[in-house]
Amino acid sequence: MERQTLIKLIPTLFIVSIAAVFIYNLVSHGRIEHPGKSVYKNQCAQCHGDDGEGIKVLVPPMADADFLKNNFDSIPCWLKNGLNHPIVVNGKTYDQPMYPPGVDEIQIANVMNYMSREFLHSEMQVNSIWVKDRLKVCK
Ligand code: HEC
Repeated sequence: MERQTLIKLIPTLFIVSIAAVFIYNLVSHGRIEHPGKSVYKNQCAQCHGDDGEGIKVLVPPMADADFLKNNFDSIPCWLKNGLNHPIVVNGKTYDQPMYPPGVDEIQIANVMNYMSREFLHSEMQVNSIWVKDRLKVCK
């Protein structure tokens, strides 16, 4: 690239980086809704609860759930195929089937990122390419 062109690009790069920081701040302070939030509210919360608290002995909690943290990588397969065997979450056994909630790869990635931040207070983040890869190895 010519020196002249590079110099012309500087203001553009400057504006783009300011915009990026601005958008990042809006999202991280919760002023723009996380894209996984609507997936969670519409397709998971009726069972798992708005705050991931679950339903008594029927639906396991997500909030600070050891099982969720330890098996995070398995979530795509559970959402695709459902989950239907006894599991132990925070010391309690749950054994009701979860039928596939009907979410696509992008929704899975978004909802996982939302759950990671909201319920596990974790920095773990995934994307739809990773989800697609995980879906290839579902049993
Ligand atoms: C109709 C009720 C229902 C809906 C809707 C539902 N689940 Fe579940 N979910 C369950 C039940 C019941 C289990 C326990 C399954 C078992 O014991 O085998 C479960 C288990 C899980 C688990 C593993 C246990 C845990 O708490 O860590 C995860 C993760 C999970 N669901 C995520 C989701 C996500 C994400 C959605 C929305 C995209 C969703 N579920 C929608 C009922 C539901």
